[in-house]
Amino acid sequence: MDIFPNDDFPTLERNGKTFVQVCHSTDVLRRKGTRVEFDEELQIAIFRVGERLHAVSNICPHNHSPLLHEGEINTEDCTISCPMHGWTYSLHTGRHTSSSHSHVKVYDVFEEHELVYLEKPQPVEVEWKW
Ligand code: FES
Repeated sequence: MDIFPNDDFPTLERNGKTFVQVCHSTDVLRRKGTRVEFDEELQIAIFRVGERLHAVSNICPHNHSPLLHEGEINTEDCTISCPMHGWTYSLHTGRHTSSSHSHVKVYDVFEEHELVYLEKPQPVEVEWKW
């Protein structure tokens, strides 16, 4: 599922952060990522692992590919593997599992009353290399 939030999406403040109500809990499936695109450079992938949601940047730093939402979820070690070349990131920390030089940003996400709230991302400077 792809979601394109705009200013009409409800928000709430919690712990000093702004959260956007992006979808219903049932929209985030167990074996498939949900892509939330605030703009081309601000895409976030939400994953359901067990009872928890995780949110990371959808853009793989290897090739700047916005495809992590289509990656393979490993529920045992809570990682996501990019479908392009297999780079794998922890959904807890965003760190690449075998390189200290690569990571994806992690965002706060939570469910309340069957709704999913995602931390509103701040604009980012593109920092990627081929
Ligand atoms: S673009 Fe993700 S591993 Fe290459």
